[in-house]
Amino acid sequence: MDELSLPSEIEESKLPKHIGIIMDGNGRWARKRHLPRIAGHRAGVKTVDRVVAFCRKVGIQALTLYAFSDENWGRPSMEINGLMKLLKEYLLKETPRMIRENIRFHTIGRIQDLPDFAQEVIAETKRKTENNDGLIFTLALSYGARREITDAARRLAEKAVKGELDVGEINQQHFEAELSTALLPELDLLVRTSGEYRISNFLLYQLAYAELYFTDTLWPEYQDKDLLEAILEFGKRERRFGLTGEQAKPNEKKSRKTLNPLSWKLGKKG
Ligand code: IPE
Ligand code: IPE
Ligand code: MG
Repeated sequence: MDELSLPSEIEESKLPKHIGIIMDGNGRWARKRHLPRIAGHRAGVKTVDRVVAFCRKVGIQALTLYAFSDENWGRPSMEINGLMKLLKEYLLKETPRMIRENIRFHTIGRIQDLPDFAQEVIAETKRKTENNDGLIFTLALSYGARREITDAARRLAEKAVKGELDVGEINQQHFEAELSTALLPELDLLVRTSGEYRISNFLLYQLAYAELYFTDTLWPEYQDKDLLEAILEFGKRERRFGLTGEQAKPNEKKSRKTLNPLSWKLGKKG
């Protein structure tokens, strides 16, 4: 499985720049085996390892994994504590590899809500990988898109009140600059595992033109070949960005540049 690589017929232009994954199904994986839920999360961490390595190998620019949502704070405290400890363990173990493999670690979400021991190791991993310019690996932790959006709106309102910004001039660029994903390329592909067909408060704004891919596989069982399948399916999709099929096909880049300046701009950033 480790040696899977992209078939030669896939063009680089058909690779998603930025993949987001809603990692789901750890609890059900554990239940099937009569194990505690945390055993499912532990198995899920191994999948994270595989997926990060695969994305790096294939040349994906950015990978964003939904690891803990705003709503997940409502889970039993034992599970939350277990997840936080796993996060620390994972970062301690994987930071050397991130350094070695030129991976830059990044987070979105309210890191200040996490326990101090988790915040410390996050800061450390970020610091040690900040000069890396390969894959940008982002964990969404204590993340909720509704809050991200309302926070962005509040910051713009504050700027307007202070006279730093003219209300009438607020546009999408201003808004996007306030989102936690401002430095990431535009989200191209969203994968959700475990047979659930919902977004669960992940990257609501950024998903506007992402291709969606759902699979029944539970996260601990997710393999390189499953992600490869999603990437190949992505390559077959015709992304029209609101244009007609005829407009979108012959010269996709040119028409996007002309008619969707925003996505063109963000695409270039990555
Ligand atoms: C996803 O697995 C991981 C987190 C949300 C932290 P779940 O824990 O949601 O697994 P299921 O949905 O109960 O199977
Ligand atoms: C979404 O999974 C959050 C993460 C993967 C971190 P959940 O399991 O929490 O989502 P719902 O409750 O099924 O919508
Ligand atoms: Mg779940």
